[in-house]
Amino acid sequence: MSSEFVQLEVADSVATIRLDRPKAMNAISLQVQAELRAVAAEVSERSDVRAVVLWGGEKVFAAGNDVKEMADMSYTDMVDHVEGVQGAVTAIARIPKPVVAAVNGYALGGGCELAMAADVRFAAENAVLGQPEVLLGIIPGAGGTQRLPRLVGPSKAKDLLFTGRFVKADEALAIGLVDRVLPAADVYPEALAWAARFVNAAPYALRAIKESVDRGLEADLETGLQIERQHFAAAFATEDSTTGMRSFIESGPGKATFE
Ligand code: CAA
Repeated sequence: MSSEFVQLEVADSVATIRLDRPKAMNAISLQVQAELRAVAAEVSERSDVRAVVLWGGEKVFAAGNDVKEMADMSYTDMVDHVEGVQGAVTAIARIPKPVVAAVNGYALGGGCELAMAADVRFAAENAVLGQPEVLLGIIPGAGGTQRLPRLVGPSKAKDLLFTGRFVKADEALAIGLVDRVLPAADVYPEALAWAARFVNAAPYALRAIKESVDRGLEADLETGLQIERQHFAAAFATEDSTTGMRSFIESGPGKATFE
């Protein structure tokens, strides 16, 4: 499928998924949702992609779902469509490789939810995040009521969700909504540099760590530990474990590179 509003670029085994709908502040329309689902599937499958940067360009990450498109939707329309937006964000969250969101400008509503689907978030000093759906008389529909409390805890999440207030980068860092705050021009290059660290890392181990953390957070401790045990044992069936441990014994720690 050809993409109009979601661009994919792969360089040196790092994929950049870039939202590109500047006239509407990268609003996540039904078309953008479909394009996000398609690009998430593509980067998940491509063996030449080892890590992913999610970016909205230099001005804005995404101002949320397309309010103009949503405004005339009925309950039955939304029953059909809510899985589309949640599905798009979940498809990004399930990419079995490290994903960093590089947030310049606004990341609001579905935009904030998309950023939260990444494994880590780097934000520009001028970034503004929030879940303002309540101000539209609705609630987040792309995971905001679930991922935000998992990141910042329930009371801070409820404060943001109840008020819809915007959060600047320094507060976002203080509450754990973003992981690093950088000068605007450094956000994308630093995100690329973070992703590049995994280009020669062990792919199954990364995938298993991500799945163990994410699935474990959705489960009780005993289930999480069981998920970890299964992945731990399975890692011993990979060539990477042989390569990694042999390299340690012969050359010392951290020297192995993996196909
Ligand atoms: N949907 C559709 N269009 C949007 C949009 C959105 N979410 N956000 C901005 N735009 C459009 C504006 O309508 C405007 O278009 P025109 O030039 O054609 O009038 C253009 O982008 C520029 O926006 P502004 O003129 O408003 O720019 P600003 O700098 O004054 O304000 C803003 C920027 C603070 C982001 C403001 O546009 C805003 O508050 N946007 C809406 C944010 C929001 O409510 N997001 C939640 C959406 S619901 C959701 O996401 C549900 C979910 O959980 C999945």
